[in-house]
Amino acid sequence: MPQVHEDAIWLKPGQVAERAGVAVSTLHYYESLGLIRSRRTAGNRREYRRDTLRVLAFVRASQRVGIGLDRIKEALGKLPEEGLPTKKDWARISREWRDDLDDRIEHLVALRDRFSNCIGCGCLSLKSCPYSNPDDILGADGHGALRFP
Ligand code: FES
Repeated sequence: MPQVHEDAIWLKPGQVAERAGVAVSTLHYYESLGLIRSRRTAGNRREYRRDTLRVLAFVRASQRVGIGLDRIKEALGKLPEEGLPTKKDWARISREWRDDLDDRIEHLVALRDRFSNCIGCGCLSLKSCPYSNPDDILGADGHGALRFP
């Protein structure tokens, strides 16, 4: 997470929440996870640096494609420690999702195709249906309880 600059523009939680389209409680939650940071005013109120909006946009976009908050936090940790993240920095950490997304797309296409076959079939066979028993490794060796004599 980048360090905080004194000359950065600071926003109140309500302003950040409204502009980011999230609840204030979401800001608190993300802060508790270490995804965003705030500072405290003299009156002990939270303020968020303006570029927190970009972090929130990154979090939401990543979540939309199925990336978990733990991985998002890991990616945010790769931003420069000092200074504001540049467009290049954001592009670099976004690129890291690409292989992951390609794998997911391939998996979903395979699931979709198998699903279409099963809709037309309806047998739910434990022997051959990829949805009834998708992880059946021993099925290729024969039928029944193969590990019990
Ligand atoms: S329902 Fe028949 S193969 Fe899946």
